Amino acid sequence: MSNIEQTLSIIKPDAVERNLENEIKTIFKNNGFKILKEKKLKLEKTDAEQFYKVHETKPFYSDLCGYLSSGPIIVMILEKENAIKLNRDLMGATDPAKADDGTIRKLFGKSIDKNSVHGSDSPENAKIEIDFFFNN
Ligand code: CDP
Ligand code: MG
Repeated sequence: MSNIEQTLSIIKPDAVERNLENEIKTIFKNNGFKILKEKKLKLEKTDAEQFYKVHETKPFYSDLCGYLSSGPIIVMILEKENAIKLNRDLMGATDPAKADDGTIRKLFGKSIDKNSVHGSDSPENAKIEIDFFFNN
């Protein structure tokens, strides 16, 4: 049975700063993802705190929100069969040092915090994250 999904992808400040936008988008397109919508923006720290609310009890929360709001980001809605899991696979592990060869984080990530991309981790969060950036 077909399971076309939409997922939210973010090209994070470390990757935008290094002009990796086109290279990363090409990887998505070459892997069969359609970019349905996209925009470039810079978050306020309070927006990042809302976006990453699931992590509010973690020790890295404040640094994470400071980082995500430190410079421009590109947010995209990606669509493909099983897009949520396949995007997570293509991104690779959270820590680029542990990511598999060929994944975006292995190719471009600098560290566990500056790991170049975000991707929704479940259908519930994909909907919440897409609404956060695109349905207001
Ligand atoms: O992004 P992903 O879903 O792979 O990881 P997460 O566990 O949801 O964490 C969100 C983000 O927090 C990661 O992408 C990292 O940038 C950051 N993080 C961190 O800075 N230090 C950690 N120990 C874990 C995550
Ligand atoms: Mg996550």
